[in-house]
Amino acid sequence: MGMVLKYLLLLGCLGCTLAEVRYDHYKVYKVRIDRLEEFELLNTNERQLQLSTWREIRKLGEEADVMLPPETQLAFEQLLVGHNITYATKIENVQTLIDGQRPKQRTGYMEWTQFHTLDEIYAWLDVIEARYPNIVTPFIIGNSYEGRPIRGIKISYKPGNKAVFIESNIHAREWITSATITYFIDELLVPRNPGVRDIALNVDWYIIPVLNVDGFVYSHEVERLWRKSRLPSDPTGNCIGTDLNRNFDFLWMLVGAESDPCSEIYAGPSAESDVEIHQLTTYINNSIPEDTIKIYISLHSYGQYVLSPWGHVDDEFPDHYPQMMHVAEGFANALYRRYQTEFTYGSSATTLYKVSGSGKEWAYGVKNIPIPYTIELRDKGEYGFVLPPEDIIPVAREVTDGFVGMIMAAREIDIL
Ligand SMILES: *[C@@H]1O[C@H](CO)[C@@H](O)[C@H](O)[C@H]1NC(C)=O
Ligand SMILES: *[C@@H]1O[C@H](CO)[C@@H](O)[C@H](O)[C@H]1NC(C)=O
Ligand SMILES: [Zn+2]
Repeated sequence: MGMVLKYLLLLGCLGCTLAEVRYDHYKVYKVRIDRLEEFELLNTNERQLQLSTWREIRKLGEEADVMLPPETQLAFEQLLVGHNITYATKIENVQTLIDGQRPKQRTGYMEWTQFHTLDEIYAWLDVIEARYPNIVTPFIIGNSYEGRPIRGIKISYKPGNKAVFIESNIHAREWITSATITYFIDELLVPRNPGVRDIALNVDWYIIPVLNVDGFVYSHEVERLWRKSRLPSDPTGNCIGTDLNRNFDFLWMLVGAESDPCSEIYAGPSAESDVEIHQLTTYINNSIPEDTIKIYISLHSYGQYVLSPWGHVDDEFPDHYPQMMHVAEGFANALYRRYQTEFTYGSSATTLYKVSGSGKEWAYGVKNIPIPYTIELRDKGEYGFVLPPEDIIPVAREVTDGFVGMIMAAREIDIL
């Protein structure tokens, strides 16, 4: 009896490392910030209220999305009311949405009706690499901090094509990005319409479906809303992880990034401190011929934006800005036609917020890739990071249309 019990306990704990973090009755509020004092009020009370920002504001008059645990919601609401700040509840219970993303039964193979784990995505990569050896070339940029391979594929139907490079899921909790891009890969391999066939045949696609593999696994197994890497660089050991999209070696830590290891936008102890980024830039430098990549995309969620350089200044624009906007318009218009989903485009600093040390800034500033974007997929905050699985296929379809429009627009101005 004793032995059986011990055995069962042992079994129960196989593969379990840490208890899952839950978000029962955590709310997401939409808060309208009209005055600088209101902005500062939220900042000063951030720690005490355990406030976590889902979406920042760029300028006064906009609405921020912030999440609070049940313990501090009353104090938070009183604070807002006391200062005459307009707010509304956007998500009543974050855990309910998280539970809604968890399939009752895992199919184990990719069919885009549920969010897949890294193991499932990698098993699927094995299958397509074996099935389409003449089109798909697998690559590994290196291992993550925790030792997982960071895998990508190159899809090429013929030599001599120019290329698009896409990194996805650099932020762990943005699951819709890897779901979307794996669907897009499937489309490229079995094109279902002439537009997709064209961009599959005449462009090479380098795609890393999950760049932040450690964070992604952690967000599946422990903390659904994890964003950063898993590198422990805080000397106190209390805070883990670098914001990998602030870790690139271009104007590192200039603006829109933090030196506090506990911050969600912690830029890391130094530029390219995280192997995920150092290996990505090394791979692009050494394994892809110079001047091949014409478009660089960093896939994110949420907000429905196509963001270009510059991130660090809002009163200067890069030389290629008109081209960047032309191609972004091609993407947004083509995407809109399917379900009338609206994407806004412009430079990061003028459209969303200031940022430096991000992938697209590095792609333009260091590698001279003429069309570099951060693309923020659906939605506008109704579900935020926890989109229902039923949305995967619609998002993936509209983004596929968007990519067709993007390539057509790039051709019009001789980028590709
Ligand atoms: C709060 O806002 C209302 C309407 O905007 C205004 O009439 C009122 O004077 C404000 N109260 C304070 C204390 O600012
Ligand atoms: C990549 O190449 C650029 C020049 O194109 C160089 O400035 C940078 O240091 C290189 N980075 C790595 C990690 O090799
Ligand atoms: Zn992101």
